[in-house]
Amino acid sequence: MTTQRILFLDHTAVLGGAELCLLDVAAYFREGSLVALMEDGPLREALERRGVRVTVLASGGSLRQVKRESAVPGFAAVGAVLNAAREVARLARDYDVVYANSQKAFVVACVSAAFARRPVLWHLHDILDKRIFSRVNIGVDVFLANHVASRVIANSQATASALRANGGTRVPVDVVYNGLDPAVADTVTAADAASMRASLGLGKGPLLGLFGRLAPWKGQHVAIQALALIDVDTDVELVIVGDALFGEESYAAELRALVAKYELAKRVHFLGFRNDVPVLMRMVDVLIHTSTAPEPFGRVIVEGMLAERPVIATAGGGASEIVRPGVTAWQIQPNSPVDLATAILDVIDDHSRAREIALAGRADAIARFTLSVTLPQTERSIALAAGGRA
Ligand code: UDP
Ligand code: GLC
Repeated sequence: MTTQRILFLDHTAVLGGAELCLLDVAAYFREGSLVALMEDGPLREALERRGVRVTVLASGGSLRQVKRESAVPGFAAVGAVLNAAREVARLARDYDVVYANSQKAFVVACVSAAFARRPVLWHLHDILDKRIFSRVNIGVDVFLANHVASRVIANSQATASALRANGGTRVPVDVVYNGLDPAVADTVTAADAASMRASLGLGKGPLLGLFGRLAPWKGQHVAIQALALIDVDTDVELVIVGDALFGEESYAAELRALVAKYELAKRVHFLGFRNDVPVLMRMVDVLIHTSTAPEPFGRVIVEGMLAERPVIATAGGGASEIVRPGVTAWQIQPNSPVDLATAILDVIDDHSRAREIALAGRADAIARFTLSVTLPQTERSIALAAGGRA
């Protein structure tokens, strides 16, 4: 176990995938470490339940106003970053390395390094894509990566490539996939799954599950459009698990309107954000992933494999690194309801093939995407970033 004292930093306390990843990493390295959050929320509670020390930065409030797509950072934004950086610098003096878990956290960590001179490790969870992030944001990130960061952990080759393609070539980058705990899926019994299904009032037909926050690029609309293409006699139903975490409420409303338009209210069920994903995953018959932009990694795909579900995932980004098409999961083109509907019918029609692929998916996920594989890799990156020996 590393002897580094780590100051983890994240701008949000909402439970997105990057934060769930941080939860496991910070819990593992909790001895002598601290997590600083720029807002209070469920992540703080979850960390504390795992025995991790957490502090909420007083300066975080004003920083929340700084938008990821803002073209030109205003004076207020610069002031907010400076305030947060000073506060982080005061904390950082007691730690060996600052581990920034989000883009905003990374910028603050780099500015704080000017005051506290601590090495900065950036865990990059996003594909730096000009369609999603402003040029200014990407430019600042890349400049700081090249000139301030000691090291970057990228959550996939795709994420690492995008950083390099944008000019981030001077910083060492380690690709470390997210690791998950396979035992989590095993705690759920068939009886738990069946009683959950009954309690939600779902039909007896094949049940599809789509897990993830509601956001246009997560493609929940594609799933609804695909369902509209599937014959009613198949009795296929869909649960959409997740909520609008980062202000995408209008997209959530659009999804409900789409369900009404296709008269699918009896077949599509919105469950909102849930803390019991493992039982819900065991409850569904097929797990679908519908992202329309390249998925940086895609925890839900691995969780579905560990839960031994047949998984249908869109190609692109980290999803293409996780899936071995036709062997461990089905792979479809993004943004294609026809492709998705075809794959769903394939899975439903051939039980034994679906079972075979689900079993292969679980074995592959255990070999490549568990915490026992990824935490030692993370530990090595932390040690190298801190200037110690790996
Ligand atoms: N998740 C959850 N509750 C929900 C929906 C999703 O806990 O209602 C979890 C899901 O199990 C996964 C994470 O949120 O671990 C989403 O991570 P992913 O990498 O798939 O996508 P992200 O949202 O980070 O882009
Ligand atoms: C981000 C990405 C997601 C990834 C997660 C954990 O939230 O959108 O694809 O799985 O981080 O690295």
